[in-house]
Parts: sequence; C-alpha cells; structure tokens
Amino acid sequence: MSDLFIVDDLTVTFPTSRGPVEVVKNLSFTVGRDDTLGIVGESGSGKSMTALAVLGLLPRGAQTSGSVRLDGTELLGKSERDLRAVRGNAISMVFQDPLSSLNPYYTVGLQISEMYQTHQGGSRRAAKQVAIEALERVGIPDPERRVDHYPHQFSGGQRQRVMIAMALCCSPSLLIADEPTTALDVTVQAQILELLAELQSTTGTGMIFITHDLAVISSIAQRVLVMREGDPVEYGTAEQVFSDPQHEYTRMLLDAVPRIDDEVPA
Ligand SMILES: Nc1ncnc2c1ncn2[C@@H]1O[C@H](COP(=O)(O)OP(=O)(O)OP(=O)(O)O)[C@@H](O)[C@H]1O
Ligand SMILES: [Mg+2]
Repeated sequence: MSDLFIVDDLTVTFPTSRGPVEVVKNLSFTVGRDDTLGIVGESGSGKSMTALAVLGLLPRGAQTSGSVRLDGTELLGKSERDLRAVRGNAISMVFQDPLSSLNPYYTVGLQISEMYQTHQGGSRRAAKQVAIEALERVGIPDPERRVDHYPHQFSGGQRQRVMIAMALCCSPSLLIADEPTTALDVTVQAQILELLAELQSTTGTGMIFITHDLAVISSIAQRVLVMREGDPVEYGTAEQVFSDPQHEYTRMLLDAVPRIDDEVPA
C-alpha cells in the first residue's frame, strides 16, 4: 500500500504568558490510499489541532514544526494562497457541527456548486448538476428538489450528509472528519459512519477519522493513533491496538468501551 499522506514529527506550539505550550508533540503517522486512520483521545488531547495544522487553519500565533506531505508535496509552511488551492480540493474536512459550517442564507446546492467551481471551474449549470449528484451519492432523497433548499430545511443527520457531499464534490485524495457524528443521535451516527465507510471504499479516498470514542474507530479504521495531552501514546493497526494494546492508557480507553457481551444492568 503506497502512503498518500505522511506526517512526520509534527509539533504545534502556542506562545502563552507562561511560555510556549506544545499542544501536539512530535506526532508521526501515515495514511495510505483506501486507508482510514482513526485518531482517538480525550478532550483537549490535540486531535483538532492536528487536523487544523494539516490544513493550515491553526489559530493565529500557533507555530508548527515537522513535515506534512501529501503525495510527496510538503504542506507545512506553504503560503495561504497555495493552501487555499489544496483545501476543499485535494484535502477536505468535515467538522462536528454542520450548522456552523453551512451558510444559512444560501441553498445547499449553491454552497456545493461554489465549492466545486472554485476548484474545478466550469459552468454554473454543470456545477449544479455536480451538486445534485453529490447529494444523491450521500443518500439525500429527491436531490433535484432538495438542491434548492436551505440548511434549516434539513435534519441534523441530513445536514451532516450535505457537509460530506460538499467535502467530496472535488474528489479529494484525503478526507479529514473531525468528530463528524458527535452531535447526532446513535442511530443517525451509525448511518453516517456506514455512509463514510462506503464512500471511502468506492472513491478510494484516504480518510482521517477523529473521535473520542474508541468504539466508533473499531468499525471504521484500519490504523489507530491514540493521543493524550498532545502526545502520541500508541500507533498501530486497529488489530494490534485492539487485541494487544501496549500502553496502559489505551487499555484504560478500551476498558471503557461497552461490549456486546457486557451484562445488561437490571
Ligand atoms: N488558541 C489557543 N492557545 C493556546 N492553547 C490552545 C488554543 N486553542 C487550543 N488550545 C489548547 O490546545 C489543546 C488541544 O486542543 P484540541 O482542540 O486539539 O483538542 P481535541 O483533542 O480536539 O479536544 P476535543 O475532543 O474537545 O475536540 C487544548 O489543551 C487546548 O486548550
Ligand atoms: Mg476537537
């Protein structure tokens, strides 16, 4: 399996009044084509900072060192202009809260087609057709009509599907999903996970799936990276990490995952 995406010794530092604070420390991982990497860790462990660093979207003041390469091209230190050509195109991202990422004043069709036209050009009409197809691909019924609807006319799960449609409209090589199902109820969560896994296997997009929930990872990832307070604690194939965790912290996370054979409390 050739590696599509290589992160090597990534460190993210914030200057504070008490000196620099490292929120991501010497992180290394790879994502292959057709591969899903799960990044797990509790709140504040640096998962989102890792994703934002990759996309050049860190808050002002943050400093990075190390290397982030997509298909051999170094992304760290690229100009904002160059990164803008990458974001939404070669690498795209799905965030936790689709409402805050969608513009309430524009139809979902317009938002998807604008994303497409920005990167791929073409006519408005062609872009709208792309939006309809994208909505269809993520399982929105009646996409020809729904393309002209506004975000508030969709349910929470459907809005997340719209975000995924937008993220995939330019056929990215890498999709980063940061807690994409956290805001959804359990049934819808399972549907979105299934959709992501299915799209990933049909499009061959590499995926980084970020979550605090190890149970979610087990159903979707081939490789797992466990983070704690910015440190990479454990990294390996899902099989290794689940069957033979090397670190006490991973064992603790695994113990917290409810299992099917657990006794149901009376
Ligand atoms: N602007 C900032 N300045 C200094 N520290 C920051 C800043 N933004 C975030 N941090 C710190 O960076 C650390 C990592 O945050 P991050 O958002 O990556 O966590 P996370 O693993 O995504 O957590 P969650 O599961 O809650 O989303 C946190 O300790 C946070 O306090
Ligand atoms: Mg986060």
